[in-house]
Amino acid sequence: MQRDVIIACDFKSAGDTFRFLDLFRNEARKPFLKIGMELFYAEGPGIVRAIKGQGHKVFLDLKLHDIPNTVKKAMAVLSRLDVDMCNVHAAGTIEMMKAAREGLTRADGTRPLLIAVTQLTSTSEERMREELLIDAPINDTIVHYARNARIAGLDGVVCSPLEAGMVHGACGADFLTVTPGVRFADGDVADQVRVTTPARAREIGSDFIVVGRPITAADDPVAAYRRCLSEFVG
Ligand code: C5P
Repeated sequence: MQRDVIIACDFKSAGDTFRFLDLFRNEARKPFLKIGMELFYAEGPGIVRAIKGQGHKVFLDLKLHDIPNTVKKAMAVLSRLDVDMCNVHAAGTIEMMKAAREGLTRADGTRPLLIAVTQLTSTSEERMREELLIDAPINDTIVHYARNARIAGLDGVVCSPLEAGMVHGACGADFLTVTPGVRFADGDVADQVRVTTPARAREIGSDFIVVGRPITAADDPVAAYRRCLSEFVG
């Protein structure tokens, strides 16, 4: 799988999104984009079709987590939207992840990439223990959930770039790691805690880095995107 940079389009409306994308109109390489809950719930499926219509690949980051039958049917709808990547919570169980994969698979056998969220970066070991009664170390749960995702036939997981090597070690080099929490060495960390640079993410073995504010809030977003590409993809 070719390494790539995915820009997190964390905008509140289609207008803001297309104003941003217009900056990239002369780029030979159309950026791979992530659409999250805020934009999808604000604008509906039309925003996905419009962005796909401009030639971008789309990672639809809706993190499904429900009973297997509901997830299967919802995934069939997302598959018809022709997204390139979508995701579920691994906490939904192997059965739910299998159902998601079945729902995504089109009649011709093709499907978007399907990845699982292991532990959100906002979850701490202390909260897991006290609120969720999960006593295992957080890294053990991340590796265990990644293995479950592999057993369910998923393509990879979302994790911190710092965890990418550990996940590849447990699940194989071909199991994808999609990693947010990326910052330039001279950049602002903002609210992210476990961050690393695009170059270091490449060394550790990330397959896709998901980059939001270092590109979207840059003075020159196109230059920031190109810098990510040259550090991460080479
Ligand atoms: O602006 P920034 O580069 O921090 O954006 C990172 C993107 O990745 C955001 O869309 C954020 O919601 C998402 N994300 C994350 N950590 C996770 C899962 C998703 O930062 N564990």
